[in-house]
Amino acid sequence: MKGVVLAGGNGTRLQPLTLVGSKQLAPVYDKPMIYYPLSMLMLAGIDDVLIIARPTEIDLFRKLFGDGNRLGMRIDYAVQEQPRGIADAFRVGADHIKGEECALILGDNLFHGAKLPTMLRKAARDLRGCVLFGHQVAEPQHFGVAEIDAKGQLISIEEKPEHPRSNLAIPGLYFFDHTVNDIARNLQPSARGELEITDVLTSYLAEGRADLVWLGRGVTWLDTGTHESLLDAGRFVRDMQHHQGMSIGCVEEIAMLMDFISAEECYELGAAMDTSPYGQYVMATAREYRLNPGFANFLED
Ligand code: TTP
Repeated sequence: MKGVVLAGGNGTRLQPLTLVGSKQLAPVYDKPMIYYPLSMLMLAGIDDVLIIARPTEIDLFRKLFGDGNRLGMRIDYAVQEQPRGIADAFRVGADHIKGEECALILGDNLFHGAKLPTMLRKAARDLRGCVLFGHQVAEPQHFGVAEIDAKGQLISIEEKPEHPRSNLAIPGLYFFDHTVNDIARNLQPSARGELEITDVLTSYLAEGRADLVWLGRGVTWLDTGTHESLLDAGRFVRDMQHHQGMSIGCVEEIAMLMDFISAEECYELGAAMDTSPYGQYVMATAREYRLNPGFANFLED
């Protein structure tokens, strides 16, 4: 399965931070924002990822991750000239996805929760069309909203409805089967001029091939698109890392736990940053894993 991180957009709500920089490179406590969505794809078992960004910043992402080899991955890059909508990712990324299954994550979405690795791998394994997720929020009218029946089956999806039919917002993480490129090819821009992800999801739903997975009580979902939510996310990461003693979105650690790289390789990546607490954490976690490989059992939930 291929992965796509959509990390373009103008980030207007974060101006002036985003006037000359990418939102998805802004720090969320101790690491660039994109580490969090990238690590979600990695936890789903995906080691072949396309990063889509604005023309002005694509080289910064390339500088950060290179060809992905140091993480035992393949990472490619593509430019989105204009923010034409989330579903534009399938057009910009068509050559990368090449008619295969793919997971798409927005570059400003941050998830955390013990059950996530299992949930993600199950979503990738059981895919029969598309999988989207539902997360309860206080103000669903700002999001795509899912309506489910008494059995938890998805019945409708609405984009930013005035009168939401549920409090289940749809976060920016989706899994699609190999037909997604064909569906995206036929999309028309919406009234606001964007290629809407909701239209892609609705198309799967009409064919009875859209499944909703409820993220539930144990999973936190944060988007980082405003000054307040960006600061909140940073505080959340700091507090969780401090209290749990484990890093969130540490791509080197996850690459090791997923067996993309060895503990020795992970240690070297940490050692290259050994004056920072992040680098020291990477070294320590690699050392611990070498002594006790059972440490990776967290992946089994
Ligand atoms: P948004 O938050 O909808 O847009 P934005 O990031 O440009 O911010 P603002 O509303 O403040 O102007 O985008 C959600 C995520 O999707 C974000 O990571 C940017 C990304 N995105 C693209 O990369 N390309 C696009 O065409 C769109 C619409 C979003």
